[in-house]
Amino acid sequence: MKNFLFLNKNEILEEYNKLLKVYENFKRKNIKLDMSRGKPGISQLDLSLDLLDTVNSKSDFIARGKIDVRNYGVCDGLEEMKDFISEVTGVNKDYFIVGGNSSLSMMFDAISFFMIHGSCGVEPWCKQKKIKFLCPSPGYDRHFRITEYFGMELVMIPMNSDGPDMDMVEQLVNKDASIKGIWCVPKYSNPGGVTYSDEVVRRFANLEPAAPDFKIFWDNAYFAHDLTPNTVPLLDIAEECNKLNKQEMPILFYSTSKITFPGSGIAFMACMGSNLENFKKMYSVKTVGFDKINQLRHVRFLKDRVNFFNHMKKHREILKPKFDIILNHLSSEFERNPILTWNVPKGGYFISVNTVSGCAKRTVQLCKEAGVNLTDAGASFPYGKDPEDSNIRLAPTFPSLNELECAIRLFCICVKLAFLEKNLY
Ligand SMILES: Cc1ncc(COP(=O)(O)O)c(C=O)c1O
Repeated sequence: MKNFLFLNKNEILEEYNKLLKVYENFKRKNIKLDMSRGKPGISQLDLSLDLLDTVNSKSDFIARGKIDVRNYGVCDGLEEMKDFISEVTGVNKDYFIVGGNSSLSMMFDAISFFMIHGSCGVEPWCKQKKIKFLCPSPGYDRHFRITEYFGMELVMIPMNSDGPDMDMVEQLVNKDASIKGIWCVPKYSNPGGVTYSDEVVRRFANLEPAAPDFKIFWDNAYFAHDLTPNTVPLLDIAEECNKLNKQEMPILFYSTSKITFPGSGIAFMACMGSNLENFKKMYSVKTVGFDKINQLRHVRFLKDRVNFFNHMKKHREILKPKFDIILNHLSSEFERNPILTWNVPKGGYFISVNTVSGCAKRTVQLCKEAGVNLTDAGASFPYGKDPEDSNIRLAPTFPSLNELECAIRLFCICVKLAFLEKNLY
């Protein structure tokens, strides 16, 4: 294995020509593969098929408190659904609102609320001049797009191995009143797989924002998505803030999208103080009630903590070999040729890799031209622009093992080609 960082010009040309032939052969195979989004694979979806039979014409439709789930009402969610989500997340049951099929849409709702109505006795965000939102990056592109959509300025915050760069967060938030919030994926983050340390969570709770209406959007989408038998612990931000009397700061989100059926799961929001009051009122105006039939299906299927984590173990057994294929290939190709670095996630849905500066876009383009679609380079950064053009998000969950084997072989070739190309002249 050659270390490309030490090749001279002739060797670069030689390696390039060799790899180009292998690449052209790949192209002739007419591969068509999508590794761009973090979607569960078909065998994962099959794990939840029995959910569809838990509420049907032969079963009863009555939830706790004699609620007929076929009818309107119970806007903030079935009691048993709140018990369940509290039991599996450890977050106080009274903080929860059970929503519809998407936590992302609840995040959108919360941002819209603050835009239109404001909070904490301060003017609505839309009436304040320029407002900004912090975006730990690489992060989840759809978060960034929501705040961009509402016209906020997105401010990039670097991610460390234990969470966002808190020195920078504190410096900005505690001084600049135009900063209104921050996006967080605190456990097995998308895409870096980072879980925030206790110290980071405490520093979040201890922020002294210049803006009285500053909010932490705490999207715990991967709270139960372990790739190892031991979960990585995460402190409860709600309680940490509660202790410090900062009930208005955090808003937590969860969903069963990657537990049962994405797009047909259950979403949850958890918050305190006036946030809880305001959002309950907002949803009572917005809807006569979310889909309680689906809530009952989920409670009957997922049952309790033991059954739930057993279900998540089945997901893990499907996903672990997929992650291993990618990680093993990366190790064998790049451990001694460090033109690519990567994270080894303990959970979540992604592997985040970094090429040398200026090679990510070209790598993704080469993959695409040979039939493998990856997430666009830069997508994990505000405005879709990675200042280093180095980060690529790999999403190994959807393709089959054979497809992944083929895709990662091609990917490794493209990483090398992009690097050599850049150093050819
Ligand atoms: C961090 C994160 N939050 C939210 C979502 C979407 O969640 P939902 O399906 O509940 O809208 C995703 C989907 O990939 C995600 O990665």
